[in-house]
Amino acid sequence: MNTPKSKQSIETAKVIIGGQTLSCPIITGIENEKALDISELRSKTGFVTYDEGYSNTASCLSGITYIDGENGILRYRGIPIEELAQKRTFVEVAHLLIFGHLPSESERSDFSKLLTSNCMIHDNMVKLFDSLPSSSHPMATLSAMVVTLSAYYPELANPEMDMGQMNKIIAELLAKIRTLAAYSYKKSIGEPIIYPKRKYKYVENFLHMMFSTPVDEYPIDQEVVDALEKILILHADHEQNCSTSTVRLVGSSQANLFASISAGICALWGPLHGGANQAVIEMLESIVREGGDATKVIEKAKDKSSSFRLMGFGHRIYKNFDPRANIIKEICDKLLAKLGINDPCLEVAKQIEEAALKDDYFIQRKLYPNVDFYSGIILRAIGIPTNMFTVIFAMGRLPGWIAHWKEQCESPKKKIGRPRQIYVGAPLTHI
Ligand code: SDX
Repeated sequence: MNTPKSKQSIETAKVIIGGQTLSCPIITGIENEKALDISELRSKTGFVTYDEGYSNTASCLSGITYIDGENGILRYRGIPIEELAQKRTFVEVAHLLIFGHLPSESERSDFSKLLTSNCMIHDNMVKLFDSLPSSSHPMATLSAMVVTLSAYYPELANPEMDMGQMNKIIAELLAKIRTLAAYSYKKSIGEPIIYPKRKYKYVENFLHMMFSTPVDEYPIDQEVVDALEKILILHADHEQNCSTSTVRLVGSSQANLFASISAGICALWGPLHGGANQAVIEMLESIVREGGDATKVIEKAKDKSSSFRLMGFGHRIYKNFDPRANIIKEICDKLLAKLGINDPCLEVAKQIEEAALKDDYFIQRKLYPNVDFYSGIILRAIGIPTNMFTVIFAMGRLPGWIAHWKEQCESPKKKIGRPRQIYVGAPLTHI
């Protein structure tokens, strides 16, 4: 068990409230991030802090992912994202995030075998897909099916279950998420589901289940596999974003892994979060339909009377550039050239980026392309339908969600998450 620890420090900060002085320990992270430990604030002063959207609030100590938003740095377990995307597979990165180290050759082989031998779902679950309308958004289907998986693991109810057993269930969820995603797609287009094949690796099997039919086997193109592998790696974790914080909060009540992940899938679905990749393509397609004028969308995004936002732009943490967006843009250019695709959405996206990066509104607010701005163009080139984009994001983020759920489970403290509030409702009223 690897409990994250801050640097030892005896520094304190004084919080003076009225005539009272509270000495708050200062917590220092491995990269010298600083935090005030206000654990005693309310008990000692009666005050709480107010921080809408938690922009200034650390919810936990974590050893999984480090982000430096000012310098565009993203590292999983200390390893730069650029190196992982270039040199490792998604399965290896999942192992790194969840178990804390890149797998040795034998660990990698065992882990891959576990994923390959557990990617089928119970046939009763296959029938469940038929009970959903074909118009059901794949994120709704995915969330429903993931929480339903818990019904097939009665051992989850055992509070004494050890992490060794849990690690096997974790691998099974990683294996099955592809199958659930592909089946939700097949059901939405009225095609028969395609079972996984033992001969395929992780990403290949997903593409096979998505695009093979009973009469044609999908021809695996290594460039397509590599592009999707990198997309999944780049989405694999991102510290305390909205959906990961949701997984941790739900998990803090000791809800099981499947219930916590299902909640994370729902949080990711929102257009301000993982749903942005679908919203970006819908935005680009409408611009192309209306003649491809990027300046109009820039003006609309700046117009405060409009609720329109330039989807795929801006980030709570990255204030210079999102390192993932840079890598994804390179993958995009390379894959479309390899496939001989000339996608007008890519041209419009590049025009928007060029115009926005020169525009004071975006410069002053430090708004840059984020991970979602170009990713949808790659997924579209692969043949993945727009309403499946956020499902791909969820597949990529699953190892990160699992790693954070596991890290919290293994924490010696195990406090249930329960923020406070400031009440601004009706005064005492008698009836
Ligand atoms: C993801 O947290 C993560 O790590 C998330 C993620 C991950 O890997 O998990 O990186 C994945 O969710 C990426 C973000 C995807 N979402 C979008 O692309 C949706 C469009 N982006 C915005 O809605 C926004 O930028 C957010 C939600 C991403 C961040 O919002 P913040 O940090 O709360 O910033 P804000 O809304 O307070 O905006 C600050 C200013 C405001 O203007 P003013 O009131 O100061 O005049 O910037 C403006 C905003 O209006 N602004 C935008 C804008 N984003 C911010 N204006 C136009 N278009 C935009 N996209």
